Amino acid sequence: MSQPINAALISPALDDAINAQVGREFEASLQYVSIAAWFESESLTELAAFFYRQADEERLHAMKFVHYITETGGRLRIGALAAPRADFASAEEAVTAALSWEIDVTRHINAIMDIALQERDHIAGQFLQWFVAEQREEVSSMSTLRDVIRRAGPQGLLLVEDYVARRASAATAPAPEPAA
Ligand SMILES: [Fe+2]
Ligand SMILES: [Fe+2]
Repeated sequence: MSQPINAALISPALDDAINAQVGREFEASLQYVSIAAWFESESLTELAAFFYRQADEERLHAMKFVHYITETGGRLRIGALAAPRADFASAEEAVTAALSWEIDVTRHINAIMDIALQERDHIAGQFLQWFVAEQREEVSSMSTLRDVIRRAGPQGLLLVEDYVARRASAATAPAPEPAA
């Protein structure tokens, strides 16, 4: 009799690590909803909208990992999620918390990539490349936002609102026509 074929493409170590990451991405999503609501209660509506958008993105990140687990024959196990932080002393403190969260997530993504490389799992490596690039962008944009808030100071938050609104409309503007 022939051996049954094990069609699982995911190793137990990666299955564990990616399951833990699903939880972290959902936690990030909740944390950003919480930061967005805090900005909304401070009547800083552009910063609030920015963090609501970030919250949606983090949910999409979680779902990408969910589908990776199911497509590669793993088993989804979402653990208990930590309650998000609700109170911040200032805009700078809220954005600094988001920045340190992104740096922490980057460390975890790198650690998952290390497992994929050790296992010579090219399918996982290719999938994780997207997150590596995404973290570069997320840390960079959050760090810039923190710098802008510092430069504007507590009395200059309306300048920050302008900055965030300009960045948001630039991101959604249609691409320029290619040169003839
Ligand atoms: Fe994320
Ligand atoms: Fe993120």
